[in-house]
Amino acid sequence: MVVYVTRRETFNAAHRMYREEWSAEKNEDVFGKCANPNWHGHNYTLLVTVKGEVSDATGYLIDLKQLKVIIQDHIIEKLDHKNLNLDVDFMTGKMATTERLCMAIFTQLKTPIERNIGVFLHSVRLHETENNSAECFGE
Ligand code: NI
Repeated sequence: MVVYVTRRETFNAAHRMYREEWSAEKNEDVFGKCANPNWHGHNYTLLVTVKGEVSDATGYLIDLKQLKVIIQDHIIEKLDHKNLNLDVDFMTGKMATTERLCMAIFTQLKTPIERNIGVFLHSVRLHETENNSAECFGE
């Protein structure tokens, strides 16, 4: 039987939504307050879900400390207190939306989790606010 286990992490980061090739007016039209030239921040909540079969010996799917360390090393250290448009190598050239960030986090985590812990990465859910989130299953 397959079980799903989720680790929650939080970080805060700044961003701005804009396209260089668009005028200030068009950026403001499309992105509203998120186009503010002087940036703004969010307190993000990240939910990382892995799946697999429970160990007979421990009753665990994984040692959650291992998952915590992988998320810390590959994601939180790169994003927390950073500017998503300027500071994050894996977001270079991408729009700093919740959707793009969620997909990029999935890609960043997939190999380390599957290689080092030996379970499948099922999903990454990223909340930009309490009410708004994106989820990615790697499809
Ligand atoms: Ni925003």
